[in-house]
Amino acid sequence: MATEKKVIAIKNTPKHLLGIQNLSVLEAKKILTEAKSFIKLNRGSSKKLDVLRGKTQINLFFEPSTRTQSSFDLAGKRLGADVMTMNMGNSALKKGETLIDTAMTLNAMHPDIIVIRHQDSGAPNLLSQKVNCTVINAGDGRREHPTQALLDALTIINRKGNIEGLKIAICGDILHSRVARSNIYLMNMLGAEVNVIAPKTLMPKEIDNLGVKSFTDMKKGLDGCDIVMMLRLQNERMQGSFLPSKREYYEFFGLTPEKLKFAKKDALLMHPGPMNRGVEIDTKLADDINVSLVKEQVELGVAVRMACLKLYCN
Ligand code: NCD
Repeated sequence: MATEKKVIAIKNTPKHLLGIQNLSVLEAKKILTEAKSFIKLNRGSSKKLDVLRGKTQINLFFEPSTRTQSSFDLAGKRLGADVMTMNMGNSALKKGETLIDTAMTLNAMHPDIIVIRHQDSGAPNLLSQKVNCTVINAGDGRREHPTQALLDALTIINRKGNIEGLKIAICGDILHSRVARSNIYLMNMLGAEVNVIAPKTLMPKEIDNLGVKSFTDMKKGLDGCDIVMMLRLQNERMQGSFLPSKREYYEFFGLTPEKLKFAKKDALLMHPGPMNRGVEIDTKLADDINVSLVKEQVELGVAVRMACLKLYCN
């Protein structure tokens, strides 16, 4: 009897995607392989599957989002789920309801998947302990953004064939960036060498424990790199002054065609968006289809989210 109960408990335990740190190499590769199969489907004229037919997906976005929210929305719909996206600006949170009360309310409606973006690091983990369904992290504070790193990895693999052995530079506001953290974990896990480049004030103190080389000079940090990932200044997470001025930041850390020459000849440029043109990146470079993978990142984001929804929803 006791054994039977245990088996049932294990079967009913939902799986969660909370961060790259919780993934094994095998799990990460499985998601990427599954995602590859959706690229072609998304480019075709008939994009609808019924893998998640009968399942309910709730997207809970507590922070503004264009790419991630629409991408999860489309991904769920293309797999046949019933998708509800909640604009948390209009929710009872405004009336003082806590995240946990919101979670309990939604849980009572029997969703199968909750996708959450939240300004507090750890919010998806907390939510996963309170609900009976799969929780997928769509970005929490400055901690992790696992599906962004996975879509970045898929984009690199699509262009370069492999991640192992590549040299990848991540440049900008490393301190406040969940994209940087998830990418550092994932690219290291998949065998890349990672350089991070930032002004001293935007470099996390614990950077040396993350298995990367850190630089405050673009010329040195970009040397020999195959991929250059640029990040936005996360002003919403800055209290006080981290930089003398945006103009000075652009001068030293903004990616221009001249600075890109410090990297390998065939280096490619990535950015998770939203981009601040003229702050972290030259506007022409951002649109240069010979080097910029920005649009491809958005495209493959849908495939990656479809893979995650399919693999994580019991
Ligand atoms: C990132 C995010 O929200 O963490 N954007 C995204 O998901 N595409 C990066 C950012 O906001 O700068």
